[in-house]
Amino acid sequence: MQRLTNKRILLGVTGSIAAYKSAELIRRLRDEGAEVQVIMTRGAEAFITALTLQAVSGHPVHLHLMDTEAEAGMGHIELARWADAILIAPTSADFMARLAQGRADDLLTAVCLAGDVPLALAPAMNNRMWRDRATQDNAKKLVGRGILLFGPDSGDQACGETGPGRMREVDLLVNDLVDMFDVGSLAGKTVLITAGPTREPIDPVRFISNHSSGKMGYAIAEAAVEAGARVILVSGPTALPVPDRVELVNVETANQMLDAVQSHMPVDLFIATAAVADYRPVQVSENKIKKQDNIMALALEKNPDILAETKAQFPGVFTIGFAAETNDLETYARNKLMNKGVEMIAANWVGSAAGENDGTFGSDNNALQLFWQDGEIELPMASKSKLARSLLAHIVPHFEDYQAKGLPKANNVVNLKDPGKPIA
Ligand code: CTP
Repeated sequence: MQRLTNKRILLGVTGSIAAYKSAELIRRLRDEGAEVQVIMTRGAEAFITALTLQAVSGHPVHLHLMDTEAEAGMGHIELARWADAILIAPTSADFMARLAQGRADDLLTAVCLAGDVPLALAPAMNNRMWRDRATQDNAKKLVGRGILLFGPDSGDQACGETGPGRMREVDLLVNDLVDMFDVGSLAGKTVLITAGPTREPIDPVRFISNHSSGKMGYAIAEAAVEAGARVILVSGPTALPVPDRVELVNVETANQMLDAVQSHMPVDLFIATAAVADYRPVQVSENKIKKQDNIMALALEKNPDILAETKAQFPGVFTIGFAAETNDLETYARNKLMNKGVEMIAANWVGSAAGENDGTFGSDNNALQLFWQDGEIELPMASKSKLARSLLAHIVPHFEDYQAKGLPKANNVVNLKDPGKPIA
């Protein structure tokens, strides 16, 4: 399980022989799902190249404070804001001293001062330098300011001596860093969410669509990121900003949405909030259709049911559908639960039935009724972001039960479209 999904780690590398281990540390952090950016001090450059750390981190390495090009891209304040945590590994005795003084005369010290996130140091130096009163005073001062010390460990040192001062092993540093964060209820899980309306073209200037704003789906995407999941958001056209840390896939038609969803399957959780157009024009006119008679008929054909088809092909994926109803909400919601073969349906009133409930399209608030095979619960009116969190809080225990039962993984199931072909 990836324990650092969605986490942004700023790794500082200072001048110590242990800097050669930073490349492995970055690799391990990325294996855990973290995004890593690196700042090197001048001292670090004597031990490892920026090119190496750029290659393993997948980002340009930040080197200098007054580099106009770098500051125009991501300057020290942006870097400090970007990070969820700063880890300096290795931290030299000199860097500890400069940090203890509150200096800001290079990029890394400036970022540490500007950062409002947890800061951890992994000291690495000769054992006598570590034991020296000056270093010990600095360490005490830094810990007193809430800075964490990971290590140092004791053992053989690069200088040939033995004692405290070795940088902590990379795996232990990764564990230390993981412990700094709360583990979310969906840590290590992948959640795919469909949102917004679809657009079904009639001719180059017209389409069939609906009033869906996408707000509920986007709010669920944000709540799932908060809960530690990797989130793929397959969205029809909306006016909403791209949520932070979400992998957004833009689509227009139902068929495009189906392709995008299935190309990302299997995932752990599939939540279909999209208001998919049930029908599309049989023919899309190449040219703009001119007005003619008083009455015009448009032939429509059924769109694929993305939710039902995906669940049929990937039965191991815990799946939640939505239902917007103007009447007989419970009956329709329960029918959908059965007909589509999904684990849960989140239903809400729309149109005049929503009344003072304010659950209409485009609203910032909503109320939901969540149904599953042998139960239901009402989630009262709240802002869509609050409601999304509460919805996930109710979904997660059912999802965990489902996973504990060890239902078939998608890779083991038959491809219904082509039984001879395994599902990728
Ligand atoms: N859905 C889908 N693909 C479709 C239609 C709907 O994935 N072609 C999903 C929606 O994202 C939602 C649920 O199915 O999760 C809604 O179920 P559906 O029965 O299609 O709702 P309506 O379109 O409102 O159906 P009806 O008009 O019969 O009430």
